[in-house]
Amino acid sequence: MHLPIIAPSVLAADFSSLTGGLALIASSGAEWIHLDVMDGCFVPNISFGPKMVGDLRPHSSQIFDVHLMIRNPLNFVEEFAQAGADYITIHVEAGVHSHRTLQAIHGTGKKAGISIVPSTPVSFIEPLLPFVDLVLVMTVNPGYGGQPIIPECFEKVRALAAMRESGKGDYLISVDGGINESTAKTAREAGVDVLVAGTSFFGAADKAVLVGRLKGLS
Ligand code: DX5
Ligand code: ZN
Repeated sequence: MHLPIIAPSVLAADFSSLTGGLALIASSGAEWIHLDVMDGCFVPNISFGPKMVGDLRPHSSQIFDVHLMIRNPLNFVEEFAQAGADYITIHVEAGVHSHRTLQAIHGTGKKAGISIVPSTPVSFIEPLLPFVDLVLVMTVNPGYGGQPIIPECFEKVRALAAMRESGKGDYLISVDGGINESTAKTAREAGVDVLVAGTSFFGAADKAVLVGRLKGLS
């Protein structure tokens, strides 16, 4: 079993010192930075937009994994690409023409991801699997950090891994929401490639130790 990539979410960091949050991630051994963009419409919370991503970009050389929890994400693809996103992930529930939006993301030269909330079945995104670089399985209802995990969602990870095995696409499988040392173990066993962690990461006294445990090294 390969080691998962760890993607701490800055949503749980101190917004008055996000460069400090980036530094904590850089020194922890985590590979990616997860950036949660919320519009107060698709999800019941507002976080930040493309300017924040652009302002943070010069302060990190790590992969920027931008998770758009916004309606009609096509309107913002260009802006997030120019801001320095590496992966741009949209929700299939956020608009009708997801395929068009994924094409637009690839048109900017960026990696494209599709995400599903806990109530959306994998079958809903099956036609899109050949066109994505990442599938983000939400393991909580998106909108807030610090929520308890919905473990039934791991079944979708198993299904996505089996679909990839059978040649339906070539994508990373990511999980997001309620990931900590113990839920990470179940996620790894289900076959994830990327673990997003907000509360558990920024709440950990020793972040390097936490990252090792999320990876299953100790
Ligand atoms: C939830 C966000 C998550 C969130 C995860 O809507 O998409 O990325 O920051 O936070 P934790 O790890 O605290 O559940
Ligand atoms: Zn997220």
